Amino acid sequence: KGCKLVGCGSAVPTLSVSNDDLARIVDTSDEWISVRTGIRNRRVISGKDSLRNLAVEAARKALEMADVDPNDLDLILMCTSTPEDLFGGAPQVQRDLGCTKTPLAYDITAACSGFVLGLVSAACHIRGGGFRNVLVIGADGLSRFVDWSDRGTCILFGDAAGALLVQACDAEEDGLLSFDLHSDGEGGRHLSASIKDNETDDLLSSNGSLLDFPPKRSSYSCIQMNGKEVFRFAVRCVPQSIESALEKAGLTASSIDWLLLHQANQRIIDAVATRLEVPQEQVISNLANYGNTSAASIPLALDEAVRSGKVKPGHTIATAGFGAGLTWGSAIIRW
Ligand code: ACO
Repeated sequence: KGCKLVGCGSAVPTLSVSNDDLARIVDTSDEWISVRTGIRNRRVISGKDSLRNLAVEAARKALEMADVDPNDLDLILMCTSTPEDLFGGAPQVQRDLGCTKTPLAYDITAACSGFVLGLVSAACHIRGGGFRNVLVIGADGLSRFVDWSDRGTCILFGDAAGALLVQACDAEEDGLLSFDLHSDGEGGRHLSASIKDNETDDLLSSNGSLLDFPPKRSSYSCIQMNGKEVFRFAVRCVPQSIESALEKAGLTASSIDWLLLHQANQRIIDAVATRLEVPQEQVISNLANYGNTSAASIPLALDEAVRSGKVKPGHTIATAGFGAGLTWGSAIIRW
């Protein structure tokens, strides 16, 4: 059985924060940020915006493009590391979309690789589980977990949502040609936002001894990153993964129409393109406008490229996500 990509959509918050805005709160400059990262602006959730609303807006646009009714969805996968409820965001999106007949919605957490994992999971549900229409949403609000006094990280991230509708089809129309997925918990220490125990009053038992129970109330730390290690990991692992996925599809880098990587840093994108010998004109990048939007970056860039007419029906795209975990993975897709 095949899986067609039939619709995409995206949404970003209204508040735009430029490099000059950041230079007013930390010791940095537009020049430093643009040269080292390629980022000029990012959108940040504020006021009435919410991650859930962005996810719903992106989802509606994808459904509209595909001309599919929300109630014809069999599954909604929300790829996010920053749900607005610890227990997950997908069922709330299911409710807001009015999908009363959709049997299942759940979250996938894999940081910036989340969308590629979500896409592959959608295909598995279609090929093995008899599902017909699966909506994959990549949505993250990392600005809420950034230390805005740390110039090493706060310049990088933005918030957004993107969605892709995957539909069962005949094998010859297949839109997911191959994939290659990895994780490495050992390298996870280079990029994290881990749980921390907050101080609470010690509780004493009736005989006056200190109780270890109940546990301390917890929250999450801001993003901690060793930028150089993450950079090295990305430029080493991403080209290998794409090459492996291309080989599985019986293709080479010279036969793809577009290279669409997770939008983390322009220097990473350029280094991977050079390694694969993909010319700049075939590289999709919108990093300058949005920064690193984690699981949203691939569907956001894909949606812009489809709507602007760059990506046309039949085009082959090599896409790859990489980030915290560490996790990384590639998918060769056909629009
Ligand atoms: N403005 C000005 N100076 C800065 C800034 C800033 N925003 N940030 C760091 N510096 C300074 C440092 O303090 C350091 O100064 P020093 O030499 O006086 O000590 C100097 O610039 C060099 O710092 P480095 O951290 O070595 O800079 P580097 O060239 O490595 O660039 C960067 C940093 C842009 C973060 C780079 O390492 C990078 O892009 N790494 C990949 C990060 C990434 O993509 N992360 C997301 C992964 S996806 C995910 O899962 C979330």
